[in-house]
Amino acid sequence: MSAGQPARLAAQAILSEVLRKRRPFDAALAATAGLEPRDAGFARAIAGETLRRFGQLEALIRAFVPKPPARNRAGPVPEILLAGACELVFLGVPAHAAVDGANRLAQADGKAVHFKPLINAVLRRASREGKAIVAAQDAARLNTPDWLWQRWCESYGEETTRAIAAAHQSVPPLDIVTKEASEIAGAEPLFGPVYRMQESARVDAMPGYAEGNWWVQDAAATLPALLFGEVRGRTVIDLCAAPGGKTAQLTSMGANVVAVEREVSRMAQLEENLNRLRLKAELVVEDARDWRPKEPAPFVLLDAPCSASGTIRRHPELPWIKNASDVMLCAQAAGELLDAAADMVAKDGLLVFAVCSLEREEGPEQVEDFLRRHTEFVRLPVEPQEIFGLEELIAGGDLRTLPCHLAARGGMDGFYAARLKRVR
Ligand SMILES: C[S@@+](CC[C@H](N)C(=O)[O-])C[C@H]1O[C@@H](n2cnc3c(N)ncnc32)[C@H](O)[C@@H]1O
Repeated sequence: MSAGQPARLAAQAILSEVLRKRRPFDAALAATAGLEPRDAGFARAIAGETLRRFGQLEALIRAFVPKPPARNRAGPVPEILLAGACELVFLGVPAHAAVDGANRLAQADGKAVHFKPLINAVLRRASREGKAIVAAQDAARLNTPDWLWQRWCESYGEETTRAIAAAHQSVPPLDIVTKEASEIAGAEPLFGPVYRMQESARVDAMPGYAEGNWWVQDAAATLPALLFGEVRGRTVIDLCAAPGGKTAQLTSMGANVVAVEREVSRMAQLEENLNRLRLKAELVVEDARDWRPKEPAPFVLLDAPCSASGTIRRHPELPWIKNASDVMLCAQAAGELLDAAADMVAKDGLLVFAVCSLEREEGPEQVEDFLRRHTEFVRLPVEPQEIFGLEELIAGGDLRTLPCHLAARGGMDGFYAARLKRVR
């Protein structure tokens, strides 16, 4: 196979898994198993950038072929066109390599082979005209599907929606949380124990990883646990705990953490992470809606499952494989989990509810409904000094981070968190 071809084949497989079977990008990366690290990296770059620029690439291809061949007759032609155009226009691959690579992919497929002349013609035009066409496109709008664009415009207004969508266009930095606020080579301090690396790197090969000196966690994801204040020597029930970023954080802050997670395999991953970090927590594999502690705890964290629309920078497939009904299903589960969590909080104790979602049904509306159902709780507004003075991350007394926050330093995931105090 010629240079780059194993990577192109893997990228095609990743895109098919994501776009046709709606599988998560991270799971689809299994297609890179066995590739040389360089090829695996190239495959990941092609597939990742194709998803980040999906709307722009589709519009570009449609400008040349207004009626693309029917999916069932054309095999992987859509994937080959999208990835080929992406290589040419966004990844700066030389035209001869990208076009030849796409032709070879088509040649190797019984259905796509019949569309070689079309692929060749489209990609040759893309190599000549593509950059000028995409420069004139409304990238933020095209790369955000209607269902998300409309929701975000309603929740945040169009200007902020544009800023959110713009943040989704870049590969996010790598955030590292240190156990002992020690320096990390090549990383700049962001806030508290969070260090940021702009260059991507193989995490498990970095110094200090095997020794368990740090873990990877987006800067925004580190903020909800801070809303408890001092936790040293106190019990924190961590509901929906895997893969354990917040368990590690609370444990390293000196809390006695009881981590509750329903999925056995995800709990195993959490345990492995804690072992590497030489941290200890009590682990409970149970559905948090059914499990109850022996006695109520002073602190309960509920990091509820959600649409994860705040993490699109890290999961560029989400806009294209999820829809509004996923948001509604998650919102319903969050309500049930919140009711269960309320039972576990001692009088004068705190419940922190967090989601990595931008959708109001999964965040603020959950809290409004909860406070109506549970008059024994009140909202305890978040103060800027509790989150390193970052006032812009607070909305209506709650934590509300957006991908466009701290944009000049590389942005952050979108997280929502509210702090609720049990008063009786
Ligand atoms: C957003 S992730 C949690 C991330 C985690 N808190 C961290 O900081 O690494 C949500 C987790 O909740 C788990 N989960 C979903 N429903 C659950 C339930 N009813 N009871 C317990 N765990 C649940 C999922 O398996 C998933 O691992």
